[in-house]
This record gives sequence, C-alpha cells and structure tokens, in this order.
Amino acid sequence: MPDDTISLTIDGHPVRVPPGTSVAVAVLIARGPGFRRSVTGRLRGPLCGMGICFECRLTVDGLPQRISCQLPCRAGMEVRTDAV
Ligand code: FES
Repeated sequence: MPDDTISLTIDGHPVRVPPGTSVAVAVLIARGPGFRRSVTGRLRGPLCGMGICFECRLTVDGLPQRISCQLPCRAGMEVRTDAV
C-alpha cells in the first residue's frame, strides 16, 4: 500500500499527515489545542477555523504569526508553536 502522506516537523517532532491537511489540524493531531500563550500565560488555540480569529497563529518556516488554519501542510515544513 503506497504511503500518500507528507512529513513535516512540529516543535522539532516529525509528523505525517495526508496532503491538503491544514497546519492547524496537523498541530491539533500532534500536540493538542495549545498553540501559543496569551500575554497572561494562558494557552490559546484555534477558535474559528476560517481565518477570522487569529488564535491559531504559529511560526512556519521561520515566519511568525502565520494563520495556520488557512495554511496547507507542505513536505518539509517546520512549524513552531509558542505554547511551551
Ligand atoms: S482558527 Fe481562527 S483564524 Fe485560524
């Protein structure tokens, strides 16, 4: 059976997802709902899933503040959350 998934890293950990998966969904699968922390230290994560709330912002390939729910995964992509 052919492997039709693509590989990316999330906080340095390899993750495989089907093509077309959004980065937000890949992060939810890999590490749960904590994408970043608010200025008060509370965990934040995706809310709308359609590019409006900006709660899903992540660093992707070194570019900060990417709206991950609107961004499809690409092979070799490096995703960093700010929730650690
Ligand atoms: S989840 Fe709302 S903008 Fe991405």
